[in-house]
Amino acid sequence: MIQSPEWLKKALFYEIYPQSFYDTNGDGIGDLNGVIAKLDYIKGLGFNAIWLNPIYDSPFYDAGYDVRDFKKVAPRYGTNEDAYRLFEEAHKRGMHVILDFVPGHTSIDHPWFKKSCLPEKNEYTDRYVWTNDVGQFPKGYRSINGFYDRNGSVMTNFFSIQPALNYGFYKKEENYQQTSDEPGPQSTIHDMTDVLRFWMSHGADGFRCDMADSLVKNDTPDHQGTAKVWHQMIDAIKGEFPEAVFVSEWNSPYESWNSGFDVDFLLFQEWVKDGNFMLIHGDHPYFSFAKPASLFAKPYFHNLQAMAKEGEKIGHYYAPITGNHDVPRVSHDINEEEVKLYMAYLYTSRGVPFLYYGDEIGMTYWEGLPSKEGAYARAGSRTPMQWDSSAQAGFTTSDSPYFPVNPNKDAINVASEELDPHSLLHYVRDLLSFRKEHVALDNDANITFIAQLHAKPLVYQREKDGEKLLIAINPSNKEAKVEIPEKDAKVIRSYGEYAKEKRTLTLKEGSYVILQY
Ligand code: GLC
Ligand code: CA
Repeated sequence: MIQSPEWLKKALFYEIYPQSFYDTNGDGIGDLNGVIAKLDYIKGLGFNAIWLNPIYDSPFYDAGYDVRDFKKVAPRYGTNEDAYRLFEEAHKRGMHVILDFVPGHTSIDHPWFKKSCLPEKNEYTDRYVWTNDVGQFPKGYRSINGFYDRNGSVMTNFFSIQPALNYGFYKKEENYQQTSDEPGPQSTIHDMTDVLRFWMSHGADGFRCDMADSLVKNDTPDHQGTAKVWHQMIDAIKGEFPEAVFVSEWNSPYESWNSGFDVDFLLFQEWVKDGNFMLIHGDHPYFSFAKPASLFAKPYFHNLQAMAKEGEKIGHYYAPITGNHDVPRVSHDINEEEVKLYMAYLYTSRGVPFLYYGDEIGMTYWEGLPSKEGAYARAGSRTPMQWDSSAQAGFTTSDSPYFPVNPNKDAINVASEELDPHSLLHYVRDLLSFRKEHVALDNDANITFIAQLHAKPLVYQREKDGEKLLIAINPSNKEAKVEIPEKDAKVIRSYGEYAKEKRTLTLKEGSYVILQY
């Protein structure tokens, strides 16, 4: 297995939802020049990598995850030249930019799809997954038909406006099905690899790959068919661009790593109820002080330990996150003090951490905000970035931004948090700079969770190049005691109240301590 590029060892990602970040031309929609304008802000916080949600030409029925042209920037975000300049400006600052790659489907407006819908055979006839006549797909798959002249149903992936690109079926069971090795799927793979090559050769540093586990249909439960397809694409690109980074939306790091990915998100892992979500969401978020930890907390950290060991062995990563454009914000079920301890965990544990724009200032999920561009309930996490307390929070000069600005902008915004040394913004910036000062906190540094009698406090050791740290976090309203494994350990950072007596550390409610030895 190829080791992940060196730069991932220190990468700290900031996710930008481009339409809501910063608008520079007053049309009420964020744009690429806006991202460029805010690079110094992002860098100033300590981030050195950016994940940009889709920026491609699209009719925006699913916020750009319905791509009409994979090689063209959507006019509302700017031009391809703006994207190239963004890569350049980021590189000048020692930062990396990864794009969102949507391999599984296109928009119904994509020229490939229009040609695929034609009754007469052509180059794109097999570009999508079609049945004969109005045939049915295997159970669990959806399809659409009726608005084109071709006989057949076409499979869709997420929304019905997202027809599935043809990467083949794992096993041919019906005569309309093709395996991944046949010419149709191979030409999809060829053209999609070419999309990756296009952006890499213009300066992108890698990709976050959408619905990565779902390419091959009727795949084995462990996605062997999909793994093979990814290897074909990723190996080709890594052969040409060894520094390219591939991050998957897979929700299963072992499978993702086996498919050639460097990083997989910790989101809804199936190996424990709600995965990473159990830490910050639901009825018993682990980081809620008042509530007892969910029953799943112990098995979660147990499984995470095994996964971390495997990641260390093969030089790959999982990615702990604050949230993303699909889920409620981190502040939805836990309060600011609790968020602070979660951030302490995020930035002292192993892996490549991702922070969703606005989480650094505590932006909130807007319950009930009407949907737009296929957002549905996700709208609440996609509102404009709150830069200051002016009418549109400094996001745009337009008085009708495409999503309304959250009225809580007067209290929650960058400008006012800059002035307050106790703000979340200062807290996050301090944490990031602390992480960078300690090799034992590098993304690849080893982690050993120290089992506790109870699920809280959370205690783990990190180690790299001779530096050893013990991190003890107490996300609870009860005092907790922790045994210090070594006698000459010194406290190098703390939050909240604690006492250290010989080999015993007493953590007061809502505190954390980091010891070095
Ligand atoms: C992923 C994206 C989501 C999108 C879907 C379909 O889950 O994160 O926003 O709607 O895939 O592409
Ligand atoms: Ca704009």
